[in-house]
Amino acid sequence: MAERVIPLVDQRLAALRASVPAQPVAATGLVADTLGRELRDLRISVTDRCNFRCSYCMPKEVFDKNYQYLPHASLLSFEEITRLARQFLAHGVRKIRLTGGEPLLRKNLEILVDQLSQLRTVEGTPPELTLTTNGSLLTRKAQALKDAGLKRVTVSLDGLDDAVFRRMNDVDFPVAEVLEGIAAAREAGLGPVKVNMVVKRGTNDHEILPMARHFKGSGIVLRFIEYMDVGATNGWRMDEVMPSSEVRARIASEFPLVQLDAAAPGETAERWGYVDGEGEVGFISSVTQAFCGDCNRARLSTEGKLYLCLFASNGYDLRELLRGGASDEQLASAIGHIWQGRDDRYSELRSTLPADASAGVRRVEMSYIGG
Ligand code: GTP
Ligand code: 5AD
Ligand code: SF4
Ligand code: SF4
Repeated sequence: MAERVIPLVDQRLAALRASVPAQPVAATGLVADTLGRELRDLRISVTDRCNFRCSYCMPKEVFDKNYQYLPHASLLSFEEITRLARQFLAHGVRKIRLTGGEPLLRKNLEILVDQLSQLRTVEGTPPELTLTTNGSLLTRKAQALKDAGLKRVTVSLDGLDDAVFRRMNDVDFPVAEVLEGIAAAREAGLGPVKVNMVVKRGTNDHEILPMARHFKGSGIVLRFIEYMDVGATNGWRMDEVMPSSEVRARIASEFPLVQLDAAAPGETAERWGYVDGEGEVGFISSVTQAFCGDCNRARLSTEGKLYLCLFASNGYDLRELLRGGASDEQLASAIGHIWQGRDDRYSELRSTLPADASAGVRRVEMSYIGG
C-alpha cells in the first residue's frame, strides 16, 4: 500500500491513499490488526454539522459562521455508505453506530437506517444498529427511526440544570426538550437508552449527583465520560478532567455501587451497579484508564475516510476507491489490508508522551469523525 500524507493545515484534506493490495485480503470475518485486535465496531459519521456548540467538541470561536463544512458533493451517499458497511460486516463488524456531528441533521436518515438494517453480519444476523445524538430532534424522529430498523440510541446530556445545560451546549438549548427526546426514544422502543455525560471539572461536575438521582431506577443507563484531549480546538487541560474514580466516589457516597462484568469485549465503559438493584451506571475513562488494548472500533468519516483511532491525524480515502470503480472484493481487500496494518493505541501512549508532544499535531475533530 502506497501511503502518502499531504501536509495541509486542514486535517480533513490530508488523506492516506487506500489502495487494493497486490495480495488479496479475503473477508473471512476474522481480520485482526498488528496487536491482534479484531474489527467489530463501525462508527459512521453522516454529517460534520451540529446544531449545538459544546465547547469540548465544537467551540463557537472555531465553528462560527465562516467555518467551512464539507460540501454536499463530497459526502458519501447512503448507497455508498451501505456498500462500504457491507464490506466491513464481511470482515467481522457486528455493531454499527451512526454519529456526526449531529446525525439527525442528515436529511432522510431513516432511509440509511433502513438500508443498513438489511445488511447481515458474518453470522447471518442483522448488525446491532445504534445512533449517538444530542437528542434535540429525537421527539420528532424517534418513531421513524425505530420503524426503519434502528435498535437503540445514546443521548448526550451534560446536566439537568437548565442554565448549566444551556451554557454547555452554547446555543441556549433547553434541557426539557432533550428529556422529552429521551422519553420519545423510550416510548418508540429504542432502548435500553443510554445517556452520556461528559464531565468537566468546574463546569458541570456539580451535576453528577443530580444526574445520578434522576436516572437511577429509570431503566436508562447513565455513563460518565472523562473529558478528552480529542481534536485540536477545544483547549483541553488536564486540570479540567475529573477522573472516573472521583466521579464514582461521589456517587457511591450517596448510593453504594458494586462493579459489574463487561457486557462485551472491547467495551468503552466500566459498568457499576447500584447495590439496591436500581440499575447501573458506566464510566468511560479514556484519560485515566485507557482501553486501547481491545479496541475494535473503526471510524468512517462523512466523506468516506477510514480512521483507525479517534486520535488519528489522517484517514484512508475509501471514497476514491469507491468512486474509482473498485469492486466489492477490492474494497473489502483494501479495508482488510488497512486494518491488518493498524497499530494505533493513542490513549495508552498518552501518559508516556511528554506533555508537549501534541504541540503542532493537527488531530482530526470529533465532530468530523464522530464519537
Ligand atoms: P454502547 O455500545 O452503547 O455501549 O456504546 P459505546 O460505548 O461503544 O459508544 P458511545 O458512542 O456511546 O461512546 C461513548 C463515548 O466514549 C464517546 O462519545 C467517546 O467519548 C468515548 N469513546 C468511544 N469510543 C472510543 C474510543 O475508541 N476511544 C476513546 N478514547 N474514546 C471513545
Ligand atoms: N471528550 C469526551 N467526549 C467527547 N465527546 C465529544 N467531544 C468530547 C471530548 N472532548 C463525546 C460526547 C458526546 C459525543 C457526541 O462525543 O460523549 O456525547
Ligand atoms: Fe454537537 Fe455532540 Fe459535539 Fe456537542 S458533543 S457539539 S452535541 S456533536
Ligand atoms: Fe481505540 Fe484509539 Fe480510543 Fe485507543 S484511543 S481506544 S486505539 S480509538
